[in-house]
Amino acid sequence: MSKMTPNDWWKGSVIYQIYPRSYQDTNNDGVGDLNGIAKRLSYIRDLGVDAVWISPFFQSPMDDFGYDVSDYCAIDPMFGSMQDFDKMLAKAHSLGLKVMIDLVLSHSSDQHPWFAQSRLSRDNERSDWYVWADPQPDGTPPNNWLSIFGGSAWQWESTREQYYLHNFLSSQPDLNFHCSEVQGALLDVARFWLDKGVDGFRLDTINFYVHDKQLRSNPALSPEQRNESIAPSVNPYNYQNHLYSKNQPENLVFLKRLRTLLDQYEGRTLLGEVGDAQYGLEILGQYTAGNQGAHMCYAFEFLQSRCLTPDWISTTFARLQDVAADGWACWAFSNHDVMRHISRWDLSQQAAKCHSTLMMTMRGSACIYQGEELGFTEAKLPFHALQDPYGIEFWPEFNGRDGCRTPMVWDAQANNGGFSNGNAWLPVSDDHLHKAPSNQVGIAGSMYSHYQQAIAMRHAYPALARGELLDMQASDRTLGFQRELDGQIIYCIFNLSEAPVQVDMPAGEWQVIEQKLDGLVVPETGEKVMLNAWHYVIALQILEK
Ligand code: BGC
Repeated sequence: MSKMTPNDWWKGSVIYQIYPRSYQDTNNDGVGDLNGIAKRLSYIRDLGVDAVWISPFFQSPMDDFGYDVSDYCAIDPMFGSMQDFDKMLAKAHSLGLKVMIDLVLSHSSDQHPWFAQSRLSRDNERSDWYVWADPQPDGTPPNNWLSIFGGSAWQWESTREQYYLHNFLSSQPDLNFHCSEVQGALLDVARFWLDKGVDGFRLDTINFYVHDKQLRSNPALSPEQRNESIAPSVNPYNYQNHLYSKNQPENLVFLKRLRTLLDQYEGRTLLGEVGDAQYGLEILGQYTAGNQGAHMCYAFEFLQSRCLTPDWISTTFARLQDVAADGWACWAFSNHDVMRHISRWDLSQQAAKCHSTLMMTMRGSACIYQGEELGFTEAKLPFHALQDPYGIEFWPEFNGRDGCRTPMVWDAQANNGGFSNGNAWLPVSDDHLHKAPSNQVGIAGSMYSHYQQAIAMRHAYPALARGELLDMQASDRTLGFQRELDGQIIYCIFNLSEAPVQVDMPAGEWQVIEQKLDGLVVPETGEKVMLNAWHYVIALQILEK
């Protein structure tokens, strides 16, 4: 049944991701801040989204730009103060926007006082708060686990004469979830923010929380089994099947504790990030089934270099049905970790518009990334401008994540596109300037207006976000499917190619609710319709009385 209460707002919602460093600077230090977000909330509300997810703004040495937290309950001064946060939250709520914040619980910064204490000795109060292990007899690391950001996942600590685990940078030590005090401390962090009134959490890397207690080495994958869905092909992280370094069943035990806490509050939500090249959708299914773990999981299927061909989309949804029928996905094409999808899939503006409409017809929730609504391409940066340690490590084959993190632009004529009057921490892309909202908002046919329209359509027809997916048909060029909710049936057909193709409207009476057809032809039942490149028809079935 589709009975929705206001607490279920997350189900099928459209979430707008803000990367705070690059959104809007208000104190001219070249880095975005919370006051900047507050200033732009009405722009976000006007887009029509339900919620924002704000990437980390907590106290941090910024080795991984905030994904390395040294105090989970403090705002980093570069982003403002707790008062600024409270004001921003209140403003968002007054505009009807939900606010989700990004909790990075799997690891902390090495500057966190917990780690500072843990590394001191093998027998202090927090000695087992991180994952410590003795070297092998030959002095090498305890096993073959790799860090995503390059090299071994183990870093030597001379004081303890032991290694500690880090799945990302060596300055991001992995918290030990086998230690009950660690779980308790992290639940306290969640409680702190829930009490402040946030509407939910985007949970970073939830399948990395727990490691195998026996520290077994991961098996190798054959070259054919490797895939680059979560790391670039030049990264040897793809060579392993990460059976033991992540995806442990105890992850769900912690998620259930977190969910129990969350359920004590009204209308809050958990969006878990599940990064796994082999078992992503299965894990999504396990973690979101039965209202006991996360409400939804962030899927990586459409964040890859692989284009959204009709076949890939239908294979993904079929697989989701097989392994996660009771689960809930959140789809994204772009975010702060991957090349912007217009560049990744080499899309024309028209193709990008078609993709945005397609996303708004997908069952699940949907996440759009700042600048996507303006049609941003990946920014090109020379090596000397790179900030991301991941890109610096794998340059030049992989340039890292700076190209998708360059600042927003607001006004085509203003200094730094209106982002900052200081020296922007990453250069504003010249290619983005003419795409500023000053050139797009309120302009018919602009990318921004297109997103607005597609989001409004999704809200007007709940079958698009929450309905069952029926009869998905993929051909070389077209993807057709129906969505059904409470008797409302919607038919969608997309030409996902550069060539024209003729399609048949299905039998029955249809009222077109959205279309991109040359000549604005309204198709009739059973009629052959010519879909030119990236054209589509979305139609509501008219039921006989
Ligand atoms: C975040 C990344 C971050 C990593 C480590 C992720 O998946 O999205 O930006 O570098 O977790 O926290």
